[in-house]
Amino acid sequence: MATNSFHPPVRTLMGPGPSDVNPRILEAMSRPTIGHLDPLFVQMMDELKGLLRYAFQTSNELTMPVSAPGSAGMESCFVNLVEPGDKVIVCQNGVFGGRMKENVERCGAQAIMVVDDWGRAVDPGKVKAALKANPDASVLAFVHAETSTGAQSDAATLCALAREHDCLTIVDCVTSLGGTPLKADEWGADAMYSGSQKCLSCTPGLSPVTFSERALDKVKNRQSKVQSWFLDLNLVLGYWGGDGKRAYHHTAPINALYGLHEALVILQEEGIEAAWARHQHHHNALRAGFEAMGLTFVVPEAERLPQLNAVSIPEGVDDAAVRTRLLQDYNLEIGAGLGVMAGKIWRVGLMGYASNQTNVLNCLGAMDAVLADMGAPIEKSVAVAAANAVYAD
Ligand SMILES: Cc1ncc(COP(=O)(O)O)c(C=O)c1O
Repeated sequence: MATNSFHPPVRTLMGPGPSDVNPRILEAMSRPTIGHLDPLFVQMMDELKGLLRYAFQTSNELTMPVSAPGSAGMESCFVNLVEPGDKVIVCQNGVFGGRMKENVERCGAQAIMVVDDWGRAVDPGKVKAALKANPDASVLAFVHAETSTGAQSDAATLCALAREHDCLTIVDCVTSLGGTPLKADEWGADAMYSGSQKCLSCTPGLSPVTFSERALDKVKNRQSKVQSWFLDLNLVLGYWGGDGKRAYHHTAPINALYGLHEALVILQEEGIEAAWARHQHHHNALRAGFEAMGLTFVVPEAERLPQLNAVSIPEGVDDAAVRTRLLQDYNLEIGAGLGVMAGKIWRVGLMGYASNQTNVLNCLGAMDAVLADMGAPIEKSVAVAAANAVYAD
């Protein structure tokens, strides 16, 4: 029997990403494919770099999308900035700090771990102590927005500490870019990587990155070859570089880049501060609804990400059964816990295009109905009203 075309259902994506893709982006991606060295495409690439600088709030010349998902952006920062024998201070307060450690070790370097509880921000006091105890460390790496728990770390303070100790910084901004205040230049961050599928509401598969002049100097003056051919910035710059000459490096994902360009045009139209404020506003309404139901947040309020709401699963409730009912009956995806949080928390994303009033109210209504029907110990029929009270304010 012949296999038919794949037609996915229309879901509401309120998990840890991908988030709902703005239809304008899907339309942009369906435009005609042109060559990756076509002068009009090259012009679009230059615009894309400018738009990314706005998103990262930077004037870094080397700001571009890596042609692969966030994990490749992460790897691109580590393989270019870390050499065998280097010492790197890695902060871990969730899943993704653990992946940074893996990257450091695969570069032949030593990872000095600064560990904090899952669900808490990175503790700057511990980082300060680690920097002092390891004056030969060359890089400090941390996750700004830890998607596995919903905790946000104080990137400005951590970058300032690294500078005081003459360390470069690698900052994971996969979940923060476009969703929560992020200021590469003001913070003095050296290398940042993100993902297209979170608060930018684009399809997955691209990783915006930005590198400071200091970082670029390090890349250009390495003792050893970058271990990855594909991610070696010295080569990638032949295609994405600023000198006007564009040479073939790899075939760019042309239509995906149209999508990212459109996503960033949308961000520019809204204004970055307005986008950050919108994420906070809808988080406030969702939080009111969850708290009225009796669900508790994992992360203390001052360290909480507005775009990733992690709540504890009430006693005796079947995690997977709830998520399945939400998907089947409401076409609504929320996220499960990762790592040590698996089975203990739900992660409800309000990212980018998905961060809106309709989604907040529908999600609360659906969770209220499903949990009440399953006999969960929640306060019934109050969540939507509590969120509406925030919107009415
Ligand atoms: C904080 C963080 N870092 C890195 C990644 C990896 O990104 P990707 O899944 O696009 O490779 C993710 C993905 O969820 C993330 O949330």
